[in-house]
Amino acid sequence: MTETHDAVDVIRTKRDRGRLDDAQIDWVVDAYTRGAVAEEQMSALAMAILLNGMDRAEISRWTAAMIASGERMDFSGLSRPTADKHSTGGVGDKITLPLAPLVAVFGVAVPQLSGRGLGHTGGTLDKLESVPGWRAALSTEEMLAQLDDVGAVVCQAGSGLAPADRKLYALRDVTGTVEAIPLIASSIMSKKIAEGTGALVLDVKVGSGAFMKELDQARELARTMVDLGTDAGVRTVALLTDMSTPLGLTAGNALEVRESVDVLSGGGPADVVDLTVALAVEMLDGAGRPQGEDDVRAALADGRAMDAWNRMIAAQGGDPAAALPVARESEQVLADADGTLASLDAYAVGVAAWRLGAGRARREDPVQAGAGVELHAKPGDVVRRGQPLLTLHTDTPERFARAREALAGGWSVLGAEDPGIRPDAAPVVLDRVDRAG
Ligand code: URA
Repeated sequence: MTETHDAVDVIRTKRDRGRLDDAQIDWVVDAYTRGAVAEEQMSALAMAILLNGMDRAEISRWTAAMIASGERMDFSGLSRPTADKHSTGGVGDKITLPLAPLVAVFGVAVPQLSGRGLGHTGGTLDKLESVPGWRAALSTEEMLAQLDDVGAVVCQAGSGLAPADRKLYALRDVTGTVEAIPLIASSIMSKKIAEGTGALVLDVKVGSGAFMKELDQARELARTMVDLGTDAGVRTVALLTDMSTPLGLTAGNALEVRESVDVLSGGGPADVVDLTVALAVEMLDGAGRPQGEDDVRAALADGRAMDAWNRMIAAQGGDPAAALPVARESEQVLADADGTLASLDAYAVGVAAWRLGAGRARREDPVQAGAGVELHAKPGDVVRRGQPLLTLHTDTPERFARAREALAGGWSVLGAEDPGIRPDAAPVVLDRVDRAG
């Protein structure tokens, strides 16, 4: 095949702070997917994009080219409107588990194509695989049938959606180019637009446990993704949410399923419930089935969301009544002073959970279902010297030492008079970005 462009010219354009035109973008994404642009050339281009950015039209065209590299799904034959949620990833982020069945209660279908964890953030599929019998791989027909019948499905994304992204993401991971806002936004949105959801709510995490450490960066990422979704005809909003400390009281696969079941039983930690409800309200609004917050909370309290969860798990071979795996060994980490817990760092807890066996270093590694970290206090809580702050769980006790190293310096306890003290826990939702503002 005769190539219409030269990769070096495209790289030079972006290196010299120029803008890529539509034909250059279409060609480079397609040629890279075909193998006609070499990995080292795409890595130079990704670095030029990271350093020099892209404007809205370039990002939009790049996203369209990634969508065009694969197949698109079609939910238009379903009897219900669709709404999806995407989180940029965090520690203890189990929200998909209670959220998908909760939204399904109100007649909206939730097609949640999810991934596995890599690094310190957990993956939804790893969490659900701790439910005995549950399977992540569904055919498109099985997925559509479950969406029509149960209204919620959490399953593995097929390899046909945006294959350019799969290749490019792996390259960015090893070339220091993950953190480019145009590349993150186009990566996430190409998959979501190709998936074909009608409405999309983005949970953009901010803080030590997230990609975006600062609110301004997170706001820019959110704005970029909301614009991309809107331009593609997907009703898209973003919530910016706190990831300076873990969500809820657990980080680890079966531990997080247990906490999600608590939320579906009308209990659970306030931050997990509040975020689940806030996202559900946005998804229902986007899907054209608006509900008040109180009505959504009622579906958690009265068992309707739990019924939907039981059906969703059973439809994928899982036994919702089966006991969840428990790690063989546990150890406690004790508070070292009297006072108020001022901080408990999400990244430190995420790395500890990962080292205990909840996460993987390579894509093919197995995870331990029972491993992870349980929190006994959250920032804002009063603690006493010697009381348990965390419990570490693993099947392989030789991992405790490295997990404790990850936690060193990961929390602070301050006296009441200290100016750094926060009287109450911070709210989980920090800001909202929609198409207008
Ligand atoms: N998640 C994605 O799918 N892509 C990114 O680039 C970052 C997070």
